[in-house]
Amino acid sequence: MKLADWQIISLPETSSTNDVAQRLAQDAPSASVIRAERQLSGRGRLGRAWQSLEGNLFFSILLKFPLKNLGALVLISALSILQAIKKLNPSADVLLKWPNDVLLDGAKVSGILLEKAVDDYMIVGIGINVAQSPQENMGYAVTSLRQANINVSADEFFDLYLLYFTNNVNILENDGLSDLRAQWLANAKGIGEDIVVRLPTQQFYGIFRGIDENANLLLEENGEMRKVLAGDVFYVK
Ligand code: BTN
Repeated sequence: MKLADWQIISLPETSSTNDVAQRLAQDAPSASVIRAERQLSGRGRLGRAWQSLEGNLFFSILLKFPLKNLGALVLISALSILQAIKKLNPSADVLLKWPNDVLLDGAKVSGILLEKAVDDYMIVGIGINVAQSPQENMGYAVTSLRQANINVSADEFFDLYLLYFTNNVNILENDGLSDLRAQWLANAKGIGEDIVVRLPTQQFYGIFRGIDENANLLLEENGEMRKVLAGDVFYVK
């Protein structure tokens, strides 16, 4: 696909761009991106709220994507953020945290909320802390591009992101996941280190051994390899 193929919808304000994308998906649209200057009820993972601070970037990508490749979509969504940041500052300290976090100077700079829409449509909702990060204690470290001295506008970062994302969708379609997976692994935090993966009702301890060809996490537990499909990773110091 080409950059020009995206239908881009820009809104001054909405509840959540993911909600707009859900409604749009009912009408079998072409690949679309819904962007809003402000969100009144931005949503995060696990039912959490996502604060929509001024100057930050909020958008949702709506595209036809087979559900069985969900892991690949998660992977390229996060990788594209890393690539855009590295383009702006090649020496930025930016690492990927499975499944879809991007850490800048060790702190969360973005959030990705994937949702299924009707038929084969998927929604990738992305929030990037361009100008500010939340002030209150989130339970994890947060930062913004500006805090890391990357001075870029939300508009500029959006353009750059869409460029990399489109390119990655094409690579995935033409060549499969293997090169993209290698790039993800080359930038992943904590490979070979002890981690805990928390799921809603259980947790696993082991050594982070990377991701498989479907982007599932590989955890070595007492010499046995476990594949984890979803969960939150915590690094054990
Ligand atoms: C996370 O919890 O880390 C995911 C946060 C995702 C936030 C983005 S902002 C644009 C889109 N619209 C939403 O309501 N959420 C996502």
